[in-house]
Amino acid sequence: MKKHSITIAGGGSTFTPGIVLMLLDNLEKLPIDQIKFFDKDKERQQTIAGACRIILNEKAPDIRFTETTDPEEAFTDIDFVMAHIRSGKYAMREQDEKIPLKHGVVGQETCGPGGMAYGMRSIGDVLQLVDYMETYSPDAWFLNYSNPAAIVAEATRKLRPEAKILNICDMPIGIEELMASAIGLESRKEMEVDYYGLNHFGWWTGIRDKEGNDLLPRIREHVARFGYVTEDQSLQHADESWNNTFAKAKDVQALDPSTVPNTYLKYYLYPDYEVAHSNPEKTRANEVMEGRESFVFGECGKIIENGTAVDSALHIDEHASYIVDLARAIAYNTKERMLLIVENNGAIKNFEPTAMVEVPCLVGSNGPEPLVQGEIPRFQKGLMEQQVAVEKLVVEAWSEKSYQKLWQALTLSRIVPSAQIAKDILEDLQKANKGYWPELS
Ligand code: NAD
Ligand code: G6P
Ligand code: MN
Repeated sequence: MKKHSITIAGGGSTFTPGIVLMLLDNLEKLPIDQIKFFDKDKERQQTIAGACRIILNEKAPDIRFTETTDPEEAFTDIDFVMAHIRSGKYAMREQDEKIPLKHGVVGQETCGPGGMAYGMRSIGDVLQLVDYMETYSPDAWFLNYSNPAAIVAEATRKLRPEAKILNICDMPIGIEELMASAIGLESRKEMEVDYYGLNHFGWWTGIRDKEGNDLLPRIREHVARFGYVTEDQSLQHADESWNNTFAKAKDVQALDPSTVPNTYLKYYLYPDYEVAHSNPEKTRANEVMEGRESFVFGECGKIIENGTAVDSALHIDEHASYIVDLARAIAYNTKERMLLIVENNGAIKNFEPTAMVEVPCLVGSNGPEPLVQGEIPRFQKGLMEQQVAVEKLVVEAWSEKSYQKLWQALTLSRIVPSAQIAKDILEDLQKANKGYWPELS
């Protein structure tokens, strides 16, 4: 089997060590010749790369390893870019969450005003990475999970229509693991699903085992009673705030008991509840900085200090194995069935053809083939039309540098109660994002 060269863009990410360990655990499925880390923040990347270099030396010394901030070095002679950058880093995530909350509006990384602010930062950065890849390795594929994925995906569709990009999210995967555990299956891989929606905005309509037996009724029943809370605490996202999110899925599902929902819909359907249960002084960004970020950087620091990873508490990010599945699908034409964020183009029959939707696709060497999900009901269609317009308006606001369109986008969001509040939030976000957003007029 050919050995592949991979660039991890956002080398300094908290997820990088878990992904490297996961890649090392899957070398027989996806052989690797070299791994390169690329980040804009040299110091941040140094800690993660220093530890990963030691891990690689101990576990797979044949794999060549490079860390760099130079695009040419990073993007030359590669097969895949795995992109998980955070434009503006945690300092700006904190602003995305706290500014809307100050105005009594949900403050969330990818939903509502926070997601729009993050989108206005991410679009230019992700497009730049795509351009580096196309310049230095035109045959490579770009696997993007940088957020806000819905807005980034729309930007790549509109502004880089020919580029070889796959946009993917791990939330459905995480939820499917919980579903599997809820009904006593070993793994989500025992299930085949039908699903439609936008990123962080969708519904499962069918879940079967490999023999074709319908599993949805049992899963629906579990969600109606417990949301996605299961007894298995070992599954990812174990923090208290995630547990609350999984529990709240019960109330989200009540709106359409024939389906089971993506957890992120709670921000759109219960925004008042979310605000009432938020602390404007301490949001998820603070939790992550105190939790995952300090753990990962602490462990990496210890590995560097000890010169070995033998006793490290860093663990394989098992659930990130979908990234290997995706790369394998492209490399070996496996036709794996996966949920991807793709141009609708008829997959949802009664929905805008140019919308970026999340649906099951068969992935092979030529990219994804979306599977038709048919017509969707009026309730979901109404919600999705409003949300997709918001996402398209943000991309238009970015490319046209239009204040007006961004104000329209904020006003159109279900999460924002009025045009006045939209404008007040926009003013604050614009100030906080100076230097990150294009100058709007
Ligand atoms: P992080 O801040 O720890 O890491 C991001 C890294 O990106 C930082 O080291 C930063 O310096 C770097 N960076 C920022 N802008 C860059 C640029 N233009 N070029 C190169 N590097 C750049 O963040 P994290 O919590 O590890 O998350 C990383 C990203 O992955 C975020 O976008 C997050 O939302 C996303 N994510 C997505 C999914 C999904 O379902 N799609 C799942 C998990 C995480
Ligand atoms: C899920 C979503 C991602 C999001 C992440 C946030 O995995 O699919 O898009 O980035 O949650 O997790 P965090 O722990 O950073 O709040
Ligand atoms: Mn996601």
